[in-house]
Amino acid sequence: REIKLFAPATVANLSCGYDVLGCCLDNVGDEMLIRKNDKKQIRISKITGQDLPMEADKNVAGVAAKALLTALGESQGFDIEIEKNIKAGSGIGSSAASAAGAVFGINKLLGTPFSNIELIKFAMEGERLASGNAHADNVAPALLGGFSLVKSYNPLEVLSLPNLPELRMLILHPQIELKTKDSRSIIRQNLELQKAINQWGNLAALVSALYTKDYELLGRSLKDEIIEPVRSILIPYFDELKTLSAANGALGFGISGSGPSVFAMCKGDKTAEKLKAEFQEFYADKNIDFDLHLSKIN
Ligand code: HSE
Repeated sequence: REIKLFAPATVANLSCGYDVLGCCLDNVGDEMLIRKNDKKQIRISKITGQDLPMEADKNVAGVAAKALLTALGESQGFDIEIEKNIKAGSGIGSSAASAAGAVFGINKLLGTPFSNIELIKFAMEGERLASGNAHADNVAPALLGGFSLVKSYNPLEVLSLPNLPELRMLILHPQIELKTKDSRSIIRQNLELQKAINQWGNLAALVSALYTKDYELLGRSLKDEIIEPVRSILIPYFDELKTLSAANGALGFGISGSGPSVFAMCKGDKTAEKLKAEFQEFYADKNIDFDLHLSKIN
């Protein structure tokens, strides 16, 4: 009758894959408890850790859950409790975790009528509510784990990519408010062909690097000439952190999703721990509160 689950944080875009690429973090996420009720209603019964809407139609978990139940023609009701550990608006898929967790849990309690891949489209409805756009690059890795690639949105087709065991993700979250809706609105809708050529070259190389376990090529593919130059202006000390990452041997550095979190992808614990200490020291005197997490991709 009830299920307790961990709803993981995710990093979308990964520099060269705006709206199509994301990965799942192993140790940052929300705890959710989902229980059948006899009210034939989705109720958000409790949220701790964040001040978020309790009304099911205004809550990403509620909206995603309803999308799933409508598709099944199911009248069973559920109570959803969320312990939010991921800060809303931090750029590591806070809304995606709640939406993905809700559909995953309800699907299990109903006897798994859908595969995890099939759940993505329901979780995307939560993203539509949160940011005005139903992107899948956070919900897909939250549901599937590892790396996900959105091959197409219409029709929706999502592929899982191989993970590399030594990859580490260092996430720095400067605690300034940046809404996905706003950081999407500043992106230009047209781009130069040459920039597109560079970007899809890098994205294809990144996919190849995961299949051939080529960490060095992976690092050289983590580039973004289209979105990063526009969005990075909103992130305090972005250029300095990028320089620091390169100087300390990170494979790559970029904006996590729509920011303000940034990520440094590293090979191995040693490089990642060293860079973590460097970030800590760099940010310590900047008068901005920040969180720093070191995760594996899982
Ligand atoms: N691809 C989305 C964006 C992810 O960059 O707006 C949001 O987390």
